Amino acid sequence: MEILDGKLLSIQIMEEIAAEVKELVASGKRAPHLAAVIVGDDPASKVYVRNKVRSCEKVGFQSTHIVKPSSTTEEELLQIVNDLNENPEIDGFIVQLPLPNHISEEKITLEIDPRKDVDGFHPVNFGRMAQGLPAYLPATPFGIMQMLDRYNIEVSGKECVVLGRSNIVGTPISILLSRKASPGNATVALCHSRTKDLKSHTLRADIIVVALGIPEFLTADMIKEGVVIIDVGINRVEDATAKRGYRLTGDVKYDEVAAKCSYITPVPGGVGPMTVTSLIKNTLRAAKNEVYK
Ligand code: GUN
Repeated sequence: MEILDGKLLSIQIMEEIAAEVKELVASGKRAPHLAAVIVGDDPASKVYVRNKVRSCEKVGFQSTHIVKPSSTTEEELLQIVNDLNENPEIDGFIVQLPLPNHISEEKITLEIDPRKDVDGFHPVNFGRMAQGLPAYLPATPFGIMQMLDRYNIEVSGKECVVLGRSNIVGTPISILLSRKASPGNATVALCHSRTKDLKSHTLRADIIVVALGIPEFLTADMIKEGVVIIDVGINRVEDATAKRGYRLTGDVKYDEVAAKCSYITPVPGGVGPMTVTSLIKNTLRAAKNEVYK
């Protein structure tokens, strides 16, 4: 069994990006600039956004962190999005989800200029991705694809099972794995809460991506020997013995599953760091006008 070390891989990719930023700046261009907007005080979101801003600093990007109270209205947030759309100093930006209930995530996402949508959440980017056109890929699926690529894991012709059909992970990763590209060309089953006899799917799988948000959902009896496991879950589980009162666990019952795998991502230190790195990579692509000419 080999661990897919997202932490190590993300450090390597961040070093590559930092070197490119140095070259850009040396050639007289300004450093890429990412803005991140957070509304409200969801503790996990705050940690994620802080990580994103910190990662910008590590690679020499400029960053702008916009923090708004949960009382912010939809109109006010739409205005912030419009200002960022118009600001020529900003290459890309994200609005952290979830948003407070009184703000429509759909409305906000649709308002973001697809050219600056480095999260890849706008339907224009999603559609371009699905058709194999240049697009910002959503960060988590992009990170998973880079991980498979850099660890030289064969995907073509393999049976892949994706658990969970969210717009930001399950559905896009199922498209990317089945796309006519490399990595890609897999046969993909996208499984969800209405799937009948889930185990019959997971037992056949060569590669399983689990993105359900259910702690330790995937167990050893559900998989075959030699499978590749990508665990997207980051769940806070109460733990009185832990310093913070909780520990992080994935969607996979790691200890028993790891023993049967050829490769597995740990939680933390697997998909998570790759997600942040992919956002940074998208921002670099934005600054270089690589996606939209
Ligand atoms: N909430 C959970 N993951 C993400 C992400 O990748 N981007 C944004 N904007 N919000 C999120």
